[in-house]
Amino acid sequence: MTPSAQRPIGTSTARVDGPLKVAGAAPYAYEHPFDDPAYLVPITATVARGTVTRVETAAAQALPGVLAVLTPWSAPRLADTSEAEYAVLQDPAVAFRGQIVAAVVAETPEIARHASELVQVEYESAPHDVVFRPDHPRSYAPEQANGGYPTDAEQGDAAAAEVAERDGVVVDGWYSTPEEHNNPLEPHTVVALWSRGSLTLYDSTQSPHGVVSTLAPVLGLRPEQMRVVSPYVGGGFGSKGAPHAHDVVAAMAARLLPGRAVKFAVSRQDMFGYVGYRPPTVSHVRLVASREGRLEAVVHEAFSQSSHVREYAEQTAVSSRGMYAAPYRRTSHRIVALDVPAPYWMRAPGEAPGMFAGEVAMDELAVACGLDPIELRVRNDPPADPESGRPWSSRRLVECLREGARVFGWDPADRTPGTRRDGRWLVGTGVAAASYPHLLNPGTEVKIRHDGDGRYTVRTGAADIGTGAWTALALIAADALGCGPEDIHLEIGDSALPNATVAGGSSGTSSWGTAIVAAAHAFRKRHGDRPEPGAEASATAEENPALEHYRIQSFGAHFAEVRVDVDTGEIRVPRMHGVFSVGRVVNPRTARSQLIGGMCFGISMALHEESIRDARTGHVVNHDLAEYHIPTHADIGDVDATWLDEDDLHATPMGSRGVGEIGIVGSAAAVVNALWHATGARVRRLPAHLEDVL
Ligand code: MOS
Repeated sequence: MTPSAQRPIGTSTARVDGPLKVAGAAPYAYEHPFDDPAYLVPITATVARGTVTRVETAAAQALPGVLAVLTPWSAPRLADTSEAEYAVLQDPAVAFRGQIVAAVVAETPEIARHASELVQVEYESAPHDVVFRPDHPRSYAPEQANGGYPTDAEQGDAAAAEVAERDGVVVDGWYSTPEEHNNPLEPHTVVALWSRGSLTLYDSTQSPHGVVSTLAPVLGLRPEQMRVVSPYVGGGFGSKGAPHAHDVVAAMAARLLPGRAVKFAVSRQDMFGYVGYRPPTVSHVRLVASREGRLEAVVHEAFSQSSHVREYAEQTAVSSRGMYAAPYRRTSHRIVALDVPAPYWMRAPGEAPGMFAGEVAMDELAVACGLDPIELRVRNDPPADPESGRPWSSRRLVECLREGARVFGWDPADRTPGTRRDGRWLVGTGVAAASYPHLLNPGTEVKIRHDGDGRYTVRTGAADIGTGAWTALALIAADALGCGPEDIHLEIGDSALPNATVAGGSSGTSSWGTAIVAAAHAFRKRHGDRPEPGAEASATAEENPALEHYRIQSFGAHFAEVRVDVDTGEIRVPRMHGVFSVGRVVNPRTARSQLIGGMCFGISMALHEESIRDARTGHVVNHDLAEYHIPTHADIGDVDATWLDEDDLHATPMGSRGVGEIGIVGSAAAVVNALWHATGARVRRLPAHLEDVL
């Protein structure tokens, strides 16, 4: 092995797919070329609950160029309707506003859109309830929370915690995050082609194999009758982690038009409809500490919105289970199913809202104890995982906090709120911790072939969702095979390739990379250092045995400076710095992009994003990027991310852990904690509005 300074892993590398992308030559799902495609436009429900009583299609059918109109009565029957989200057009029931209730397929997108407006749908509407609140009478405990986590957890002595409350310091607060919608620049798009008894989907997805395994039974196909192709994806942020209704309706239409590709691009408005979103959450957090700031009890009760279409429990309280040492810890999840579309993953589901709540509460506790917020976290850093008692593979939160304080210029002597002033601006700084689990999904298979002259083809069905997987996997393969990244011919983004797990939970590089290293070892074992051209080997990533002995988790510390206009309440974030402990960084260039991208998400979560669902209609009224606020370049100041030098061989054979989502975790809390320092106003409900800080 070459010395580490020269190893491909850790070398800052420009995206290998960059030139294709900037030249417009990298085909995204909708852009795959076909001679004579047809176009699908859906018609969506205008009532929040009820029944479709009639669909008048004559005018649409009469329009020249219309190829098919699908209704709940005319659409092809599905083989498996047990998952309501995928049982599209199988019956006339309406479960939420925006549900697909009909679809038009036509020769051009314009004709399809025109025809969709000629379709008349009549409803019998029923009373609906779309208003989430934590004390909803129909709130209940799900069997488990997203990610397979237990719904409730309690450790320690509740009676002792009560005694501690009497002489201690108590912070008790309710924290809420709004409904938020995933809006990757490339919306969900799919092209479906039915040909010779099999279905190909060119799909914008985080998991080609996942789409096959999920939809083949729904469509009554054997997995080998289905192929999903997704070489380039313009962002997913979680919602592309599973197929949604649009994939099903496109597949149905393709089956009606054999040999003809059916293209369906979900409109920006419908991105607020049937493709998933982060449910609104409420967290009740109660912290009890000694006067010296040692935690005695952590209670985190989380509530979130679910749907009748599919149960989804955001795992909001999970991060509080292992974050800090406290003898007593109790966490719980309750959900309420409303007449709304199915919530689903949106960046760092669980940790993002959960650590917003937990890390603002910690800031409040620091104030209540008269301690610097960094010092409070240092005092409560657990030597071993509080949940399992197992040692950490690496817990370097304190170093992240100290390094961040140094780089950012944190001043512990200046923590009185509302006192720093620069002209019209009140200035404040805030800190918050970040934590994200190390996830490695077993099951990815990688095949390696020697093409001669030290060049290799590496194949697996991984998806690069814009994160840099094309480049990271080439670096990992080159590192493991002892060649340069330019000697690696990578093939990914296709379910016809060997099985790969989802690009989700920040697990992609860890899972696929582990399989690449295993396949490279198998290759060398079989073929030695001088392989013949055509020599091949493959391997499948297994469950990480280190998980039995260690708790493996990433950490980080966010520092933010905010400025608030004394008269208008205008909020600016001129500066943000994050320091992370994420194991060895495979590609510093793309990893930094992931981390600062996540931090921008945090600014967005703190100050901008909020989907407004109208209680009267169930409709998300701000369903476009003009009214669903996100930061523009002018809203993002000097945002930077750095990391500790680290090599976590318990996590992966590359020494790396995931970098995809930790940047968003805790970053909103840092902004809000800085708002408190600037103004003295404590924001517990996101996003922060001007009136909250005036
Ligand atoms: Mo991530 S929200 O698991 O794609």
